[in-house]
Amino acid sequence: MSSPRTGLEIQRVARLDGDLRLPGDKSISHRALMLALLANGESRITGAGDGEDVRSTAGIVTALGAEVARTPGGGGNVDYVVRSGGADALRAPAAALDCGNSGTSMRLFAGILAGLPITTILDGDASLRRRPMARIIDPLRSMGATLEGSDGRANPPLTIAGRHPLQAIDWPTPVPSAQVKSAILLAGLRAEGKTRVREAVATRDHTERMLRERGVAVRTRIGPAGETVIEIEGGAAVQARDATVPGDPSAAAFWLVAGAIHPAAELRLRGVGVNPTRRAVIDLLRRMGAAIDEQPVEGGVASGEPLADLTVRSSALRAIEITPTDTASAIDEIPVLCLAATQARGRTVVRGAGELRHKESDRITGIVDGLRILGARIDADRDEIIIDGPTPLRGGLVASLGDHRLALTFAIAGLVAAGRTTIGRPESVAVSYPTFFADLERIRS
Ligand code: S3P
Repeated sequence: MSSPRTGLEIQRVARLDGDLRLPGDKSISHRALMLALLANGESRITGAGDGEDVRSTAGIVTALGAEVARTPGGGGNVDYVVRSGGADALRAPAAALDCGNSGTSMRLFAGILAGLPITTILDGDASLRRRPMARIIDPLRSMGATLEGSDGRANPPLTIAGRHPLQAIDWPTPVPSAQVKSAILLAGLRAEGKTRVREAVATRDHTERMLRERGVAVRTRIGPAGETVIEIEGGAAVQARDATVPGDPSAAAFWLVAGAIHPAAELRLRGVGVNPTRRAVIDLLRRMGAAIDEQPVEGGVASGEPLADLTVRSSALRAIEITPTDTASAIDEIPVLCLAATQARGRTVVRGAGELRHKESDRITGIVDGLRILGARIDADRDEIIIDGPTPLRGGLVASLGDHRLALTFAIAGLVAAGRTTIGRPESVAVSYPTFFADLERIRS
C-alpha cells in the first residue's frame, strides 16, 4: 500500500490469512452512549467502535451535559464511562451539535431532543446535509415537537424545539429504517401513552433490546397486515447499565467477501454480533456458496446480542437473486455484496435498492461506476442493480465519493484485481473502521 497524491494504492495480494477482531458494532456503540445519557447514574461501555461516527455521538452526549471518560480498549476499540443526571437534567448546549457524517447520530438524537424542553440545532458535514430528514421530522412533529430544516427544506441543519410530554403516535414507517423507528421510540419514552411503530420489513432491533435491558417496556408483535409492530410505554425511566459491544457484522462483511473471493484465503473473525436482524449478509453469502463456518461463542452475549466466531475460506460463488426484503436486511452490506457478485457465476439481481441512493453517498451510482472501472459487468436503474459474473477485475482509479462503505469495498476489490487499484478519499474508512488498513497489513502476504 502507498499513498500517492491521487489516493491510496492497493495491490493484489498472494494470500490472506489470519485472525481479526472487529470494530465494536457502530449501531450498538451509538445507542449505548445515548442511553447512558438518558439514564441517571454511571454506565460503563466496553469495546465501543472508535470510528468518527461514534465519536460524534460521544461529543454530543458531552455537549448535552454528561461526563464522558474515554480510554483505549482492546483491538483498536475504546471504553467509555458515562455519568449523567438523566433525561430531566440535560441542558441546552452552547452551540450546534455536530453529527459529522453520522445519520444515526442525527436521526436518533432528533428523537431524544424532541422530548426535551430545550431548543437545539443538529448539524453535520456536506454529505449529511444532503440526506433526507422528512422521515423523522413528520412523526416527531405529529408528537408535538417543532422541527425545522434549513431554508424551509427537510435537510440539516435541523432546529428542534422539544416539548415534554409529547403525544404518543401510531406510525407506519414509509421506508424500512431502524433510524426512523429508533427516533420515534426514543421520543416515545417522553410521550404520554403508548407509541407504536409499524414496519413492513423488520429492521435492526438494537434499540428495542437495549431499552428492555434498561428497564423500559418495549413489546414487539405481528400486526393485522403481517407488519412488525413495536410498542413502547411512555414515561419509563431508562436505567443505567454497563454494556459490552459486539464485533460489528457490517465491518465483518468486508472480510467475509475478501475471504470468499480471494483464491488463497482463510480469515477468522472473532466475537461478531449475529443478531437475526443483522446477520443477513452471512446468510446471503452462504446462499452464494461462500464457505463460512459459524461457531457460537459459549455464553457469548454482549448487550443482549448473540456472538459467533466466523471463519471464511476461498469459495466458488454463484449468482443469487437478492429480494427487497434481503436488501433491507443487508442495507449497509449491499456494496460489498455487489463486489462478491462480480466473482459469482451467473446474473445477480439486487432488488429494492433505492434507499442506497440516500446513504452517505448515492451508493448505487458509486458502486456501479467504481466496479465498472475495475472491469465488472454491472448495471443499475433507479431501484435495481444487475451484475454478471464471474469477471476478472483489473486495477484502476476509483472514487469512494468520501463514503466509508465504498472505500472499504474498493479496497477489498484491490486485493483481487490485477495490478494497482487507487482509491480516492480513502480516509473515509475512519468513519466506521479506523483500523482497517492496519488490519489488512497483518493478514496479507
Ligand atoms: C442504522 C440504520 C441503517 C443503517 C445505518 C445504521 C442504525 O440506516 O444504514 O448504517 O444504526 O440504526 P436506516 O435506518 O436509515 O436504513
